[in-house]
Amino acid sequence: MKNYLALPPAGITSLLGVMSCILIFMSALSSAQEIELPNDPLMGQKVFVKKGCIKCHSIFGSGGKIGRDFGKTLVNLGTAGIFARMWNHSPEMSSLLKKNQKMPVFSEREMANFIAFIYFLGYLDEEGAPEKGRKVLKDKKCLACHKIGGEGKAIGPSLDKIRSYANPLSLAQRMWRYGARMSAVMADMGIPRPEFIGSEIIDLFAYLREISEYKTDVFSYLTPGRPTVGERLFEEKNCFKCHRIGNKGEALGPDITRAQLHIGVTQIATLLWKHGPRVWEEMEKKGIDRPLFDDNELADLVAYLYYLKYTRQSGDFITGQQLFIKKRCVKCHAVRGYGGNFAIDLAKTDGVNNYIKITTSMWNHNEKMRMLMEKMGLPMPRFNEKEMTDLFFFLVSSRIKYEK
Ligand code: HEC
Ligand code: HEC
Ligand code: HEC
Ligand code: HEC
Repeated sequence: MKNYLALPPAGITSLLGVMSCILIFMSALSSAQEIELPNDPLMGQKVFVKKGCIKCHSIFGSGGKIGRDFGKTLVNLGTAGIFARMWNHSPEMSSLLKKNQKMPVFSEREMANFIAFIYFLGYLDEEGAPEKGRKVLKDKKCLACHKIGGEGKAIGPSLDKIRSYANPLSLAQRMWRYGARMSAVMADMGIPRPEFIGSEIIDLFAYLREISEYKTDVFSYLTPGRPTVGERLFEEKNCFKCHRIGNKGEALGPDITRAQLHIGVTQIATLLWKHGPRVWEEMEKKGIDRPLFDDNELADLVAYLYYLKYTRQSGDFITGQQLFIKKRCVKCHAVRGYGGNFAIDLAKTDGVNNYIKITTSMWNHNEKMRMLMEKMGLPMPRFNEKEMTDLFFFLVSSRIKYEK
């Protein structure tokens, strides 16, 4: 299943020893609308445990059973979406805590790690379905050139060793590596180059491992990938020569910040595979070497692609402003002088400098705000992802404008 975690079945807690050795990579935020890339998305597991969420919630089955499993309910959400769910849940959470228990408070670093970790859950591959993989193997004609489990032809190398790889990304990585030669042989033999959709590579991988005759207890894991390393690789592997991110790079290829890359790691690799031939052709024209990936490089690069949506946030200013009024923030707060003066003018506080600061300060003041709102007879506002995104955008933008 979530085989990039290499977790022992009891999971989460036992990994903590390892996690604490890893240095946190701190870098300044380059602009208010961007969230820093996590160096190690798994850091946030620690926060999940430390803040007591694990007492009631689980992740992929490990943890408490009173609340829902975050691996099921919080995937496919961006930063503001994850926070909106936490926010909506806060009154219930507070009432569930025992009398002597306080609502957990987060430091900015903890909030950043926690949200980056939750965001990461959708990246980890599902368990492949071997019975579906059997059909993929047949349809894609791999056995016309490869031997595995005693079947097939030995035109290419035997695939039996696949069994020693622990995650399906390894298969995608090796196919990429040998892709050009493989495609040439396919063309010679009149076999169409295989394309994959959805989780087909994952299913194929599960089936190949099942039928492999290779015996081993030593498995090689790819780590889930480090987005910060991937960012560097994006540069080193010449991706900027054709893709533009922010104001860097050429817009020869499609805008990948718009692409739907908030999908599982192997599915992103599948997408790269699909585009391979077109891209290789373009590269040849431009005299760029075809990028090969060693060790964990593909995982790192794909992790970076996955986090593109996370780091780049935008929203609708006007809608955000309307929500500020509609959700009654304006009863207590002003923004740049307009609104209530019961609490701090939100354009005047560092608490809204960026998305992580807002989530942290809103969460930490949540209880105080709620009690005041109760006294004033105001209902605690609830948000969906879009609303929270627009509200954040309005607040952060107002703050920047005020500074100038
Ligand atoms: C005392 C038990 C308890 C604790 C501790 C707790 N929760 Fe919850 N939580 C619940 C219950 C019950 C629900 C409502 C059922 C559900 O949606 O999972 C819930 C719901 C949620 C939801 C909404 C889930 C969704 O799908 O929309 C989020 C997000 C959430 N909790 C986050 C947290 C975080 C973050 C922590 C730790 C800081 C935490 N919870 C700690 C009991 C708890
Ligand atoms: C037309 C023949 C052909 C077909 C069909 C084919 N391959 Fe290959 N494959 C090759 C050749 C040849 C190589 C070795 C390339 C080289 O040495 O550079 C190779 C290499 C590989 C490798 C790297 C081997 C290693 O040691 O890790 C993998 C993995 C692989 N193929 C998987 C597949 C899968 C999965 C399929 C079906 C979707 C498939 N191939 C279909 C010819 C083929
Ligand atoms: C020589 C130009 C070129 C280079 C260099 C290049 N790409 Fe591309 N890329 C393209 C083109 C063209 C497409 C569209 C291909 C197609 O439509 O089949 C594409 C498509 C993609 C897509 C799919 C986007 C979507 O919307 O589905 C991703 C992801 C991607 N490239 C990532 C990368 C990465 C990562 C690198 C660096 C390792 C890279 N590209 C290097 C030209 C390039
Ligand atoms: C009933 C009054 C009230 C309402 C309504 C209210 N707040 Fe607050 N808010 C407060 C108080 C009081 C504080 C704490 C200020 C302090 O500790 O000095 C606060 C703090 C904050 C902070 C942290 C500021 C900082 O610098 O740390 C943010 C951000 C914030 N509120 C945003 C909002 C948003 C967004 C809304 C609407 C969804 C809202 N508030 C609605 C009373 C309110």
